[in-house]
Amino acid sequence: MKQMRKHSKTIAALAVMLSMAAILFLFTACQDSDTPSAPDDGDQTQQPGETTDPDSNPGFEPQEPDVDDVAHPTYVPSREVRTTDDGNLLVIINKEFTVSKDYYPTDMVDIDGSLSTNQNLKVKKEAYDAYLSMLHDAQAEGLNFSICSAYRSYELQESLYNNSLTANGKEYTEKMFAYPGKSEHHTGYAIDITSPSMNWGLSQDFTDYPDGAWITAHCSEYGFIIRYPKGKEDITGYVYEPWHIRYVGIDVAKYITEQGITFEEYLGVA
Ligand code: DAL
Ligand code: ZN
Repeated sequence: MKQMRKHSKTIAALAVMLSMAAILFLFTACQDSDTPSAPDDGDQTQQPGETTDPDSNPGFEPQEPDVDDVAHPTYVPSREVRTTDDGNLLVIINKEFTVSKDYYPTDMVDIDGSLSTNQNLKVKKEAYDAYLSMLHDAQAEGLNFSICSAYRSYELQESLYNNSLTANGKEYTEKMFAYPGKSEHHTGYAIDITSPSMNWGLSQDFTDYPDGAWITAHCSEYGFIIRYPKGKEDITGYVYEPWHIRYVGIDVAKYITEQGITFEEYLGVA
C-alpha cells in the first residue's frame, strides 16, 4: 500500500514535470528553422481543428475594408487557397485564408546570419530593409535583438506544428502554431524577434522589458504591426505573440496600431 502511494506520487510528479517542460518549450524555444526535429507523418489531408474550410462556406462575402484615409491598394478578399504571390503587400494568411504547399513568395532575400539566431533564414526584401532600419535605430538607443524565424515553407511549418502536437496536444498547439498552409510566415512578411530579455527565446512578457517595450512602441514607425495582440485572440485565433511582427507598410501599420485593431479587422475579414 505504502509502495503504491509512493508510486502514485512519482507519477504525479512526473506529470507536473512534463507539463512544465511543455510550457518551457513554448516560451524559451524560438522555432529552429534549420533543424526541425518534429515527426512528419506526411498526411497532407489531415486538417485538425478546421472549422472554416472555404469549400464548406461558398457564400462567404468578406466586407470591403473601411479605410479610406490610408493607402489600401490591392487587397482582394478571397477564401480560396493562394498558389502564387501576386505582390500584394497586404496578403493575409490565417486560419481561413490559406496558401498551397508550393506557394513561394517573390522578392526574397537572405537574412545576414549575424543578425539571426537560426541560420539560412529568408524574408521579403521590403520587410528586411524595414527591419534593418528598425534595428539600427534600436541599437542607437542601446537595445539589441535578433531574428529567430522569418519565412517558413509548408514543410517547416508542418514540422513545427507536428512537433508541438506531440509535445503539447491539439488544443494548445492550435493557439500557438498555425497549421501548414495557414501560417503568415509563408508570406515572407513575418518575423519573430528574440532578444536578451527573452534569453534569446520567446516570452509573452517581452513587452515588460525595455527591448520588447521599444518594439511594441516603435515597430509601426517602420511598417510593422504586432500581428497577434493581447485581447484579440478570438479574432486572430492565436495567443498574444509580442515577438511576431508583420510588415504591412508604414501607413497601414500606424493606422492599425493607433486604432488598436487586428489585421483581420483592418481588412474587414474578422
Ligand atoms: N505562431 C504563428 C501563429 C504561426 O505558427 O504562424
Ligand atoms: Zn511568428
